Amino acid sequence: MINRKKISFDVTVYDAFNELNDAGQTLMSAAVKARQRAYAPYSSFNVGASVLMDNGEIIEGNNQENASYPSGLCAERVAIFYAGAKYPGMSIRAIAITAASLNHEVSEPAAPCGNCRQAISEYEFRQGEPIRILLMGETGSVIECNSLADLLPLGFNSSFLN
Ligand code: THU
Repeated sequence: MINRKKISFDVTVYDAFNELNDAGQTLMSAAVKARQRAYAPYSSFNVGASVLMDNGEIIEGNNQENASYPSGLCAERVAIFYAGAKYPGMSIRAIAITAASLNHEVSEPAAPCGNCRQAISEYEFRQGEPIRILLMGETGSVIECNSLADLLPLGFNSSFLN
């Protein structure tokens, strides 16, 4: 028997940063500050990520590029790995991501790359609770996703290894 199945997900779209609630604005502001400290001399594409931990602390990261390009790392992984390193086992409530280019205006919400989705999914799967994701460019609307799993349907996780 063949079944057709549709995989879809809901997001919340805010017209602009100032439509976010206070907690959302605080988290996204931290990502913007992190973005402004990005080290991206090769792409001129600055990304900031902020991770809201279960104890209320916000951990920030930004992209760190390298003259040997593949040695660099995206903002999201810098932030989430730092969160994992500082607070092993602590739940992560949300991540905010923002991007800005020195060459053009990023007015669409910045989408995390596939590697970062996979990296974040590891923590979400382990904690068994969803991580909310806020996405923003430099200007324009903000998208809120309810979980990382929504952004990585049919994802790979440790259950396959058992
Ligand atoms: N980048 C991120 O930091 N996060 C993403 O999800 C996409 C891309 C960085 C990597 C590189 O430093 C620059 O943006 C251009 O790809």
